[in-house]
Amino acid sequence: MHGSEPLGIAVIGTGRMGADHVRRIDRVVSGARVAAVADTDAERAKAVAAGIDGCTVHTDPAAAMAAAGVDAVLIASPGPAHEAALLAAFERDLPVLCEKPLTPDAASALRVVEAEQALGHRRVQVGFMRRYDAEYVRLKALLETGQLGRPLMLHNRHRNVASSPFFTSSMLITDSVSHEVDVTRWLLGQEITAVTVHAPGSSSGAPDGLRDPQFVVLETDGGALSDVEIFVNCGFGYQVQAEAVCERGTARVGDDHHLVTHTAGRWGGTITQDWTERFAQAYDDELRAWVDTTRRGEVRGPSAWDGYAAAAVCEAGVRALEEGGRVEVELAEKPALYG
Ligand SMILES: NC(=O)c1ccc[n+]([C@@H]2O[C@H](COP(=O)([O-])OP(=O)(O)OC[C@H]3O[C@@H](n4cnc5c(N)ncnc54)[C@H](O)[C@@H]3O)[C@@H](O)[C@H]2O)c1
Repeated sequence: MHGSEPLGIAVIGTGRMGADHVRRIDRVVSGARVAAVADTDAERAKAVAAGIDGCTVHTDPAAAMAAAGVDAVLIASPGPAHEAALLAAFERDLPVLCEKPLTPDAASALRVVEAEQALGHRRVQVGFMRRYDAEYVRLKALLETGQLGRPLMLHNRHRNVASSPFFTSSMLITDSVSHEVDVTRWLLGQEITAVTVHAPGSSSGAPDGLRDPQFVVLETDGGALSDVEIFVNCGFGYQVQAEAVCERGTARVGDDHHLVTHTAGRWGGTITQDWTERFAQAYDDELRAWVDTTRRGEVRGPSAWDGYAAAAVCEAGVRALEEGGRVEVELAEKPALYG
């Protein structure tokens, strides 16, 4: 990238999230262009790149990163493919926005942290987009003023209409609760030290064998508790809510009060049906922030360490689900690179 030229981005993985990010780079965010796309499904990559000037199409992520005009990488392939893509980007010392999870488990996430440390500078922003949601940003700012006193508890609810057919009981934690894990660490500025998971009898609306809903309790090193109701087949909508209970008051986000109607003896509104709708503003602002900081040669936002910490907490959560009881989180020493 030179001077005022747009940031050339290689998008790896052009499924649901990847295609949406391609649209966002192409039409919403200024100062960036889609320079290349890669997907193991060539037809999908070709379809997503159609109509974008100068965008090359690849099936090999490393080839897309090596393509002409690529200055940065956005990884939106499935979690198990992230480590290889991240290491390929590091080989070229390219800045990366990596969709969550950084990688699916703590050991591979730690390898990424170590590889970034070996580069000697931060290169990765992880796609924990709730940190860019206007309501969560306001909640964080309020907690930081100290007006409400010390946060004692966070109550989180995370509900989806229906889960994908391949969703497993542990994915409720690794794919869904991973967002609340990051939100808890970020809002409170504390590390999570232990996880307990309770599961009531599954909903008849959940696929056979899926333990849905679950109730997850996170303990922090600051003495706070954060609980998460995760219910991925609630049937009625996509809801993400958080309430902070502090010493002198509470603050709550995610109530979905957009347009409220009063008619025919009833009042009501609509509930968002998926994350692309609920978090549209957050995704836009996340990408804008990444493009702007990258163009300035800086790296901000959720780091590879945040991705690793989330993976370690989720791993403890999966053990708590499978074995029962309280499982302590084992975290490596935090490298100086991450402050
Ligand atoms: N931040 C969020 O709110 C959010 C929401 C949904 C998904 N995600 C994350 O986005 C990522 C993608 O999820 P999705 O829902 O778009 O999945 P998807 O299955 O719709 O798309 C994944 C795409 O990657 C392609 N692919 C598979 N292996 C690949 C490889 N090795 N290299 C390149 N392409 C490969 C697949 O062919 C597919 O087109 C995941 O990490 C997921 O956790 C984040």
